[in-house]
This record gives sequence, C-alpha cells and structure tokens, in this order.
Amino acid sequence: MREQLLIGGKWIDGSNSDRIDVTNPANGDVITTVANGSPADVTAAVEAAAAAQVEWAKVGPRERAEVLRACWQTLIDHADELAELITLEHGKPLADAKGEVGYAAEFFRWNSEETVRIHGSMSVAPSGNNKIIVRHPPVGVVTMVTPWNFPAAMITRKLAPCLGAGNAAVIKPAGETPLTALRVADLLQGAGVPDGLINIVPTSNSGDWFDAAVDHKATRMVSFTGSTEVGRILLRRCADRVLKVAMELGGNAPLIVFDDADIEKAVEGTMTAKMRHSAETCTAANRIFVEAGIAGDYTAALGEAMAATKTGNGLEDGIECGPMINERAISSISGLVDSAVSEGATVVTGGSTLDGAGHFFEPTVLSGVSPTAAITHEEVFGPVAPVITFTDHDEMIGHANDTEMGLAAYVFTEDLAKGLATAERIEAGMVGVNRGAMSDPAAPFGGMKQSGLGREGASEGIYEFCETQYIAASW
Ligand code: SIN
Repeated sequence: MREQLLIGGKWIDGSNSDRIDVTNPANGDVITTVANGSPADVTAAVEAAAAAQVEWAKVGPRERAEVLRACWQTLIDHADELAELITLEHGKPLADAKGEVGYAAEFFRWNSEETVRIHGSMSVAPSGNNKIIVRHPPVGVVTMVTPWNFPAAMITRKLAPCLGAGNAAVIKPAGETPLTALRVADLLQGAGVPDGLINIVPTSNSGDWFDAAVDHKATRMVSFTGSTEVGRILLRRCADRVLKVAMELGGNAPLIVFDDADIEKAVEGTMTAKMRHSAETCTAANRIFVEAGIAGDYTAALGEAMAATKTGNGLEDGIECGPMINERAISSISGLVDSAVSEGATVVTGGSTLDGAGHFFEPTVLSGVSPTAAITHEEVFGPVAPVITFTDHDEMIGHANDTEMGLAAYVFTEDLAKGLATAERIEAGMVGVNRGAMSDPAAPFGGMKQSGLGREGASEGIYEFCETQYIAASW
C-alpha cells in the first residue's frame, strides 16, 4: 500500500506532521493513514509537474502513446489487487470494483490510440492571401480534483488524455479514497510514466490545497469531477486566473418508462441505472417517470428486485449493494426519504438505515411521488428509487427537464422511434434508450446545463487538454 505523497517521482511524507485516516465504510474501521499534503507540498508538486511537462511535450506522439498503452496493461495486470483496494476504502461490491478497474484501464488504451490522432489543419483563407494553420499544443500543468465514487476511473478518465496530449498533472484525490489513487499512480510510474508527470497530493484541507494550486503561475487548467455546488466555488476561483476548466458536475437523471415497454427489460435497466456502484453515481436514475398503464406492474416488479438486492460488505460473496461512503451520506438519504413520505409518497420496500457499524441503507422504492416533491430536486446518491406516475407525455417531459442539471437520462419503450424522439427532447448530455449503463471511454461523457463544462472520453476528451493555436502564414 502507498501511503505517502507522490511529488516529482518521489514518495515523501510532506511538510505536515498530521495524517489522514482512511476508513472502511462497511465497518467504520481505520484501514490506515496517509500523508496530509500542505500548500507547500502542492507548490512543490506544481513545480515538479512544470519541469517534467516541458520535456514530455517534446516526446513524439507514438512514444507517448506507447507509455499509455503500457499503463493500460499494468492496470489490467493488477486488476484484482486494485479492485480489493477500491472495495476496502469505497465499499462498492467487488464485482463493481473489478468493472471499475477495467473501465479505468480502458481510458489509457483508448487515449493511447487518440494520442497519435491529435489533428490540426491547414486551409487557405477565403481571400487567398493567407494560409491558416491550426495546431493543438498541450495546455501544460493540469490540476485535477477527483471524487470518491470511482476512486480509479475518475482519475484515469482525466489523466490518460492529459498525458497523451503532452501535459503533466497535480492530483487531489478524494480524502475518503486516497489509497486507490496512490496505488494507481505507483503502477503507472512502474509502467514508464516519467517522474514528475503524475503528482498525487491527498489533503484534509481542500480549500488551502486548491488555492495553492490555482495561484501558481504554472497551473493552466483545472479538471474537476464532483458536485455542482463545489464546481461553482472552483469556477469562481479559476476565474481569478482565467484558467481553462473541465467540469463534470452533479446529475438528477430522469428515467422514463412508457407503457409499451417490456417490464422485465425496463426493470433490469432501471436496476442498472439506479444501483450500479452502490447507487453512488452522478448518472444514477434519480426520478423514475412511469406511464399510468404500466405503473402498478412496473413498480411491483421494481420493488421485488430492490428487496432482493443483497446489501452488505462489498468484499463478501454475492453482495450487490455496499455501504454508503459515510454517515453524512446516510443522513442525507434518510432526510430525502422522510421528506418524500411527508409529501405523500408510499414506501414500497426499504426506507430505513440498517443497524451496525457500517453506513448501510436499505434498497428503497417509493411510489406516488409528486413530480415536484423535494426529493425530485436533489441528487439522492443512494439506493432510493422515487416513482412518479404520468399520463400526459408533454407534461412529463416538462417535469423531466425541470431541473438545473442535465447529465444523464434514460428512456424505456419498445417503440424505438418514440425512444429516440424522446431522447431528443431531453436536456441531458447523455441519454440511454433501453439501456441502463452508458459509460464508455469511446463515448463523450458530460452534461448540459449545470451538470458540467466539456466532455471526457471519445475523441473530444483529449482536445480538452489541448490549446488551439492558429498560425497565419504566407509562402
Ligand atoms: C460519475 O458518477 O461521475 C461517473 C459515472 C460513470 O462514469 O459511469
């Protein structure tokens, strides 16, 4: 296990003497402690990154691509070990953790292929008096602030294109899940990433950490995944230095089930959209709109599937939903369920916390939820499925779009034309039609409205880490 800071290719304790406890959310035990980065450590990390980046940018795309390919291979080779670490500190079931490692690794393979395809262009100006040359150099040093819900993949989704484009990174992993981040960095160093390109500095003081990173003149970009609330604060800070930003923020995904849907397929898709990775994803179905003709049967079947979901320590066999990350998450989920019930919802199954030292909440289905209830305006981030019945399609679309968020949405119908037409009317960056999972390194991940700025993955992802330079030339 790596428990120190990684700065300039060296593992160090940093200048703070106190350390950060890392706990197992399944039982509350302290797993270990990690070094607690100070603002001075962040400054050292930015300087190491700046020095390393100048050399890395001179390395040819093919050679950079091959380093990325080796990173993919090493993550795959260490998949079991990484998955156990993810489950230990995050809590998600081991099967989900293994899925996350494959997903995390794939960002390196995909971006190794994109690294040799960062295309510019050359055209003749309409006047005929100038040649327009466009190129895409790297941005330089990138600050990354990553969340706890995907301790490996939310780092690699940024880091792989960042390195592929010729940049260096200073990363603040979530305080809840630094062990995966540190071990991933360790493996990537071992795979041949030059010293100084990946710097990992966990901290218990995010505000001072971020100030030190943003105020350093070598920092050119901030890439953040987390809540919209925190994203707004970081955006304001980035404005002081007019930094380039990439923001993957909160969601409030509607999931729409039309009455011609196949109930079995719709419930299976809903379970995936709601429950993958212990229901702690930004893309999770948060509001389930079901057409009246099918609402009774669908809700009963969803209730049965949720009631049958095995909840417990993700390291144990057969567990399908692990603990929530901490006590704060549990009290937020309980509060939302209580408020929905006080606004007239009925608990079909679940509804309560589970006793014991871990942070567990029962898989829950609520029916009869009002489309304007408080729970429909908040990201639940837990195993609660609020079902809202609709009759009028236009009214339902209005409610589905009545949110500042626009990350993901899902539609279930046996009529593909209706599914696609509905997808076009939904204000979300990603829409699944008869699918409960959409994440794919080859697809553009990101949100509309207050769910974010920019896209990760696909061919767009690597350009987020590039500048655009125009050279006017005559010859
Ligand atoms: C997220 O919850 O932010 C990421 C979800 C995913 O990549 O599937």
